[in-house]
Amino acid sequence: MRMYDLIIKKRNGGVLSNDEIIYMINEYTSGNIPDYQMSAMMMAIFFRGMTEDETLALTMAMAHSGDMLDLSDIRGIKVDKHSTGGVGDKTSLALTPMVAALGVPVAKMSGRGLGHTGGTIDKLESFEGFSTGISEEQFKENVNRVGVSIMGQTADLAPADKKLYALRDVTATVDNMSLIASSIMSKKLAAGADAIVLDVKTGSGAFMKTEEDSFALAKEMVRIGNGAGRRTVAVISDMDQPLGYAVGNALEVKEAIDTLKGNGPKDFMELCLTLGSYMVVAANKASTVEEAREKLVTVIENGKALEKLADFVEAQGGNREQVYHSERLPKASIVEDIPAPKTGYIEKIICDEIGICSLILGGGRETKESEIDLSVGLVLKKKVGDYISEGEALAEIHANDREKLEAAKRRFLAAYHISDNAVAKKKLIKGIVTE
Ligand code: URA
Repeated sequence: MRMYDLIIKKRNGGVLSNDEIIYMINEYTSGNIPDYQMSAMMMAIFFRGMTEDETLALTMAMAHSGDMLDLSDIRGIKVDKHSTGGVGDKTSLALTPMVAALGVPVAKMSGRGLGHTGGTIDKLESFEGFSTGISEEQFKENVNRVGVSIMGQTADLAPADKKLYALRDVTATVDNMSLIASSIMSKKLAAGADAIVLDVKTGSGAFMKTEEDSFALAKEMVRIGNGAGRRTVAVISDMDQPLGYAVGNALEVKEAIDTLKGNGPKDFMELCLTLGSYMVVAANKASTVEEAREKLVTVIENGKALEKLADFVEAQGGNREQVYHSERLPKASIVEDIPAPKTGYIEKIICDEIGICSLILGGGRETKESEIDLSVGLVLKKKVGDYISEGEALAEIHANDREKLEAAKRRFLAAYHISDNAVAKKKLIKGIVTE
């Protein structure tokens, strides 16, 4: 087999066989196919697309390109949750202790943030001493003992995707449905969970900007997951504005804690309850999503979900007291309001721009090596559809550097559009895909 022939085949609109895809992925992972040939293949796939069978074959080949995590030592049905990424997306922080409090074992691999979206691991490091650099044994033991553990992604998990994603990132071939679906699902399958609940974002802060594309991506991933024998459900949720109010690492942790105390933003709570219900049902801890939802509300009301977060933080070396005293999380030295330039209704928030404001303040990474400032970010006061008077606070900005604050503020104001006319509020949950 020759990579050259496979490139021609795909370039001319042909369908690659399972064996051809396995060959291409194995040889690329071991360094025998150079980046320039794989770049040409990615671009051919970008224009020609892939059939359902090709996409499944690509996913399986990437999943098997490294270790397949064996979670059989963990008791119960392991459920993983994955978000396609967004601004202010602190869902895992609140959701995992909620479902773990109901006995759903959560063994989760998470990543760090890059670009305008934050990563769960960075956020969790807002707790003093917290570490995700634990061994696989410790990870499994923590899930059995505490009910939830989150570890950093190991290098051996779907290494083909790691290499391919970096290549796609610099060759303008990221935003293709089959390539995104296979990239995400290869990692999820290799991470070993029995069931997978996907949060597919849609809107200006998401990979998929339109609902049509987001539903198509969701269907593709659900088909792959079910096809691989893992019960998979996708929730399509709005990312046309940040989720909740807080954007920035420690600020998002505080908002997740408030949510576990029952005082969180309505949209964020709704998303946690929706995703959580499907996770609880997938783990056979409730027979309907309605029953699961009621149980989730109960563990918030009786404090068990908050306690689970504290146990989880402590089990990974963190300071559990910060869960009960969130004022002890990292704090920025300057906190100021951003006043509205005019009176009216919030018509639009350019979502990824808000993520970039947090990046400018130092809360995100420009490169993989960048150090991040956990304390900085924004707390929005108004979202789409809200009324605001001139001079009233649109948001609170948290910074440690006056120059960065001014730059972020300018960008923030340009991202908020205010209209004279009333604007309808946005619906958060756009739909559910189960098969
Ligand atoms: N996230 C991934 O892991 N892969 C993609 O291709 C896009 C988003």
